[in-house]
Amino acid sequence: MAGETEHKLRGNYASMRPDFTVDQAWGAYSEAEHELWRRLYRRQAGLVPRYACDEYIESLAKLDFGRGIPRFDAVNTKLARATGWQIVAVPGLLPDFTFFDHLAHRRFPVTVWLREPDEFDYIVEPDIFHDFFGHVPLLFHPVFADYLEAYGKGGVKAQGLDALDFLARLYWYTVEFGLVATPKGLRTYGAGILSSGGEIAYAIESERPNRLGFDLLRIMQTRYKIDTFQETYFVISGFRELFDATAPDFTPYYSALRPLEPHAASAVLATDRIVHRGREAA
Ligand code: PHE
Ligand code: CO
Repeated sequence: MAGETEHKLRGNYASMRPDFTVDQAWGAYSEAEHELWRRLYRRQAGLVPRYACDEYIESLAKLDFGRGIPRFDAVNTKLARATGWQIVAVPGLLPDFTFFDHLAHRRFPVTVWLREPDEFDYIVEPDIFHDFFGHVPLLFHPVFADYLEAYGKGGVKAQGLDALDFLARLYWYTVEFGLVATPKGLRTYGAGILSSGGEIAYAIESERPNRLGFDLLRIMQTRYKIDTFQETYFVISGFRELFDATAPDFTPYYSALRPLEPHAASAVLATDRIVHRGREAA
């Protein structure tokens, strides 16, 4: 999403439409790019059975995008039937309003370009592999799909309330880096984790980060780091909890949060429900 980076964006924004969409131009990907995609896919698909939530695993299994960079039009046919979501091709990160407006209309923006081979393990800006592998499978899940639409609508509304920082933190700690407690143990539904070769095992198994029970206001009051593995993850009990907790009008929440100092990404508070206290915790 937008607002996460301050360096110059690397996508080509020259020939987009007013809503920032472009054509995917699938035919323009090189064979080397398809091969890099397959390598990325193979590695992550091998990790997912141990670390991803079942909803993600089941959805990924029904999709067939290990053979090369997927065609957006083919995915959209399936998505339309499943949840009514669509993906739209974009040059890269978007302005906040544009991003929220797409989500509010059940359109998920997916970056068209793929990382370079030397970025196999780490990439700063989201590329097509992150956006697609991380985000698209859960667009097939009805409750998660509704949450994301509600989030977009909430973003459009928050714009006038000077509350985008709060909502950005919620997106970060759920859609990008969320964990879920399951009968098989902790699993992830966060796209930033699912698409990362290193953070996926770290997020679930490492002794270092904190894992805390989901708490909406606490999350909206907590800073995050964009250039290291996370110091804290928040654990939901299921997508229903996420959807229900975020259903109320946030306007009074924003008023309550505005005068407060944000917590550091590493903080553990007396009021936290601790699933795991990180070895590195302050
Ligand atoms: N209920 C929130 C509001 O009134 C909107 C929202 C929904 C925000 C889901 C985030 C996630 O602003
Ligand atoms: Co993302």
